[in-house]
Amino acid sequence: VEDQNSELIGSVNRMLAAVLDDARVHPVLPSSAPEELAARLELGLGREGRSLSQVVDDLVTLAANTPRTSSRHFFNQLFGGRETAAVVAETLSAVLNNSMYTYKAAGCQILLERELLRHMAQLVKMPDAEGSLQAGGSLSNLLGLLLARNRAFPQWREKGPAGQRPVLYTSSESHYSVPKAAGILGIGRENVRRIVVDERGRMRPEELQRQILADERSGRTPFFVNATAGTTVRGAFDPLDELARITGPRGLWLHVDGAFGASVSLSPHRKRLLRGVENADSLAWDPHKMMGVPLPCSVLLTRERGLLRASLSEKADYLFQENDEAVNPGDRNLHCGRRNDALKLWAAWRYFGDSGWERRIERQFALASYAARRIREIEELRLVEEPPCITVCFEVLGKSSEQVCRLLAEQGLAKIGYGKVHGRKVIRLVTVNPGLREEDLETLLSQILAVAAGLG
Ligand SMILES: Cc1ncc(COP(=O)(O)O)c(C=O)c1O
Repeated sequence: VEDQNSELIGSVNRMLAAVLDDARVHPVLPSSAPEELAARLELGLGREGRSLSQVVDDLVTLAANTPRTSSRHFFNQLFGGRETAAVVAETLSAVLNNSMYTYKAAGCQILLERELLRHMAQLVKMPDAEGSLQAGGSLSNLLGLLLARNRAFPQWREKGPAGQRPVLYTSSESHYSVPKAAGILGIGRENVRRIVVDERGRMRPEELQRQILADERSGRTPFFVNATAGTTVRGAFDPLDELARITGPRGLWLHVDGAFGASVSLSPHRKRLLRGVENADSLAWDPHKMMGVPLPCSVLLTRERGLLRASLSEKADYLFQENDEAVNPGDRNLHCGRRNDALKLWAAWRYFGDSGWERRIERQFALASYAARRIREIEELRLVEEPPCITVCFEVLGKSSEQVCRLLAEQGLAKIGYGKVHGRKVIRLVTVNPGLREEDLETLLSQILAVAAGLG
């Protein structure tokens, strides 16, 4: 055991030192064609094994060829940067290797997960909420929809669908995980109504109301509204309080997809964006986005207790043997064996405290408004709108956003993506990494102008 332990410590140290140093010297990985990369890396698996030291060398080589999402040139997704306390704790999770279904198997890890969920629920004013962790916002949205389906159609879980004509609503700019979940859960993707948005990308409540009435008149059963708090491209927040006034009296389930934006609840200045969230039946919240903990880390909160168990509980004599169900979350979770996604978030929370999170969120917003201001000042650029959150959408006048983004990646300058707003492809800059400096944004904007100038 002694030998194994020192091998582990030695290998991890050697690997981290090499990987972090390389990422510092080469902060952006130029893109290469997939098959060329596969041939160069020799990824094949064979009959004979290799020494641990050779495997560590392999890992260092792989890391050198992996996109650096924590660099200050990565703006491509809704995550980026690196939080040390969270990464240290994530490493410990791998070493401890507990499965988060029972207190017997995971001990105090279950208790800190419970504390985490309690604290998060208080922040969104759902004091009695229950919660669970999933591997991503797509699964949290799926779970919200599952709970709603089983409340609206109580026989469905046991007997399957029985001639119902369920219909659900989500905005035209919401995430694709919503229709995907409708397909998985047997509701049918065609029964998802895409409600039009206003000029700022927010679901229009009067359109929602009109569509619900039309569906009721044609004999369908509306049961679920997905409101997005922070849409993927524009960062728009649907008007939760107005939507709750429509769903509440009708007994429709209101789910808030806050995978991206629920973290604004950590900032007293920004949480008004979530006004009305306390009326939601369920809320999806991804700490792996704005809170910067390593992927995956996603939470679903349900305002009412007992719903998770009602939809997910199964008997398993070999597993749920001891302790009461309150400390055996496996009984109310999509997963059976489940990785410990709580520890990294808990450790980061211990490090930051609520006040540190607030500063982190404020920094992300400040970077977004800095970028927006600079884009407005530069003649060749057009800002789509004042960013409601931390995605800044813009374009280079007369140039293809798609080509600009591709060239930046090909030349190893930066990774940044594009999305569609009002039918046009625009560059989406995400200031999710609070370690960015204003000069990094200046560098990016000059690089964008330079590659655009080379385009016809
Ligand atoms: C609004 C929204 N909901 C859900 C998701 C899905 O989250 P995940 O990638 O964790 O599955 C995303 C991802 O970007 C998102 O932007």
